[in-house]
Amino acid sequence: MPLIEKIESKSGTIGIWELSESADDLLKNCQLHLADLERFNSFRAEKRRREFLASRLTLQQIFPGYPEISYTKSSGKPVFKDSDLNISITHSANLAAVIISDEPVGIDIEQLDRNIEKVVTRFVAPSEMDFIKKGSHPQLAKIMLWAAKEAIYKCSGMLGIQFNEQIIIDPFDYTAGNEFSGKLIHPSGTIKYRLNYHLIKNNVLVYCVEK
Ligand SMILES: CC(C)(COP(=O)(O)OP(=O)(O)OC[C@H]1O[C@@H](n2cnc3c(N)ncnc32)[C@H](O)[C@@H]1OP(=O)(O)O)[C@@H](O)C(=O)NCCC(=O)NCCS
Repeated sequence: MPLIEKIESKSGTIGIWELSESADDLLKNCQLHLADLERFNSFRAEKRRREFLASRLTLQQIFPGYPEISYTKSSGKPVFKDSDLNISITHSANLAAVIISDEPVGIDIEQLDRNIEKVVTRFVAPSEMDFIKKGSHPQLAKIMLWAAKEAIYKCSGMLGIQFNEQIIIDPFDYTAGNEFSGKLIHPSGTIKYRLNYHLIKNNVLVYCVEK
């Protein structure tokens, strides 16, 4: 079973799954709630079927007997039915990851070699450019900012967020530690987040909780 890592952190429990098996093979070991079976049957693409099943198999391992998941109509954010626990899900080409937490939570995984030059100005604030340029690994810094902002976006459940203006990541020394902070600026108030990053199999995984 390719659950390749389980992380118990103060933000929650994270499971990371390596996407190495076919959807048919994954399905053999997957116990799906009826709603998930219907959702799964609506997917045609092999990649989508694999990543969906991988998220459920990850849950089976980190949260045996996990409750049914529904998706909010407004944003598509996954939520547990009949549970106070929070969930967030992410996938990349070769990994899937899930976090469960007592706190509102978000997770995102991105491949380190992803070319995001074309969208940099859409998601990086001018104040964050220094952080990228002054560090020793500009590509890592860019991908980390991207993943951090996606994680915050998922955690918030809000729509229409301008990443380069409304989500700001505080500069930090990513060679010295894996914890950092950021905020979402919204007319209803500013929300602060604690974030962590984790490098795994040519991906950067970022997860966040509200502070
Ligand atoms: C929805 C979105 C966050 C998904 O992120 P992604 O990197 O494409 O894909 P990931 O694999 O990391 O995440 C997918 C999972 O996110 C979850 N998700 C989808 N929409 C969500 C939302 N609004 N809030 C929280 N979680 C969400 C789902 O669980 C989904 O997996 P599942 O369908 O298998 O359960 C992303 O497509 C998006 O819309 N981002 C904001 C776009 C934007 O404004 N970007 C501006 C920067 S230039």
